Amino acid sequence: MSTGFDRAWHERPHAPEPGTVLCRVDAVPEASGRGLRFGDGKQAFEMILVRRGESVWGYVNQCPHFKVPVNARPDTFVNSEGLIMCAWHYAKFRLEDGHCIDGPCEGLALKPVPVQVDGASIRIGAA
Ligand code: FES
Repeated sequence: MSTGFDRAWHERPHAPEPGTVLCRVDAVPEASGRGLRFGDGKQAFEMILVRRGESVWGYVNQCPHFKVPVNARPDTFVNSEGLIMCAWHYAKFRLEDGHCIDGPCEGLALKPVPVQVDGASIRIGAA
């Protein structure tokens, strides 16, 4: 059975369509980020939203190290340095491009999911 790990984000099961409204901008705390899940079970599509001011970025919630979700607790993605941090082996990723700048997968990156701010809301952008 395919897990969808190596597929582009928009080819994965349950990936939201471009234009899908995800949440309000103010529902993404800068200090933690927010996780979203589409579908159920092992085929669910999980993504991360992180924000700095009016800028918002989206990523597939899958660490490039062991291909597992980066968080151990709900909606807990950003560390005190303002970086996305994997809860398992502490890889650190930049908000703005998802690149790992420290940790066991340094040089790799989270897979981006295009998002756009539309007024007070965040939508999925074009694939
Ligand atoms: S699984 Fe994320 S750093 Fe190891």
